[in-house]
Amino acid sequence: MEEKQARLQRLKREKDAVILAHYYVPEDVQKAADYVGDSFYLSQVAQRVEAKTIVLCGVRFMGESAKILNPQKTVLLPDAAADCPMAHMADPARVRQVKAQYPDAAVVCYVNSTAELKMLADVCVTSSNALAVCRALPNRRIFFIPDQHLAHFIAAKLPEKEFLFNDGCCVVHDAIRAGDVQETMRRHPGAKVLVHPECRSEVTALADYVGSTAGILTFAQQDDANAYIVCTERGIFYELRRRCPEKTFFLVEGCSQTCTDMKKVTLDKVIAALEANAPQVTLPEAVLQAAKTPLERMLALSR
Ligand code: 13P
Ligand code: SF4
Repeated sequence: MEEKQARLQRLKREKDAVILAHYYVPEDVQKAADYVGDSFYLSQVAQRVEAKTIVLCGVRFMGESAKILNPQKTVLLPDAAADCPMAHMADPARVRQVKAQYPDAAVVCYVNSTAELKMLADVCVTSSNALAVCRALPNRRIFFIPDQHLAHFIAAKLPEKEFLFNDGCCVVHDAIRAGDVQETMRRHPGAKVLVHPECRSEVTALADYVGSTAGILTFAQQDDANAYIVCTERGIFYELRRRCPEKTFFLVEGCSQTCTDMKKVTLDKVIAALEANAPQVTLPEAVLQAAKTPLERMLALSR
């Protein structure tokens, strides 16, 4: 392990590279990263880093966002097959049709989406800024793609807006069922419930706190309880335990809480990507241009 870390440090220097990782990738990759964070933080870092190469340890849409925000840089995705199924869960033809039918609607696109979908959006959001961005939009009508659960969570907080929904979802969060959360609550009375807004509304209804991965981490760190049931992907446990070593965190009984795509990003693949300078994220020039506007608008509206 020591040897791998040393090799990685040498490669980073040689290639002028910086490593960005999401909280869901394997522990040793999080440990090796220069920056670890939620989707919003990673897009902010991707916009400002100076290194020539960004190694994005996460799924494809994260690598694409980094490339769109930084087209002149080399962006490496250690496993080119690590993709988020939800990113494909909106149909571009339907988005065009809704835009034609409701010209007054803003198309709000969760960053967990393909670059092709982002091209059709007025603005992007992540789970940590979706509420603020939707609230700040002048449009009353919002077509939110691709995640139905995040859309419903935000819509309930903005009764002054009219939401049009899409039917996509995260397969990992959607599989966390309220009955299993309630059973886990019975087994651990007193434990607070932390929920990601990609979960079903009957699960967010059970929560003491709902927020992005970064929000969940901050809440656990600042809150005074000593035990929590965590309704998101299990990769977050590494950082939860690192920041709160005295606290206890429970998974939901009977749920896998594993994103197989995030787990494809291994330390060996990070090293191999740096050695080979591949796989690189590449997008056609027209896509880079068109998808940049909604991402930059998100960053501006979240400031
Ligand atoms: P955040 O880290 O932005 O909360 O996103 C969760 C997620 O599902 C990323 O794939
Ligand atoms: Fe996509 Fe869900 Fe995996 Fe995140 S956890 S990458 S939303 S499938």
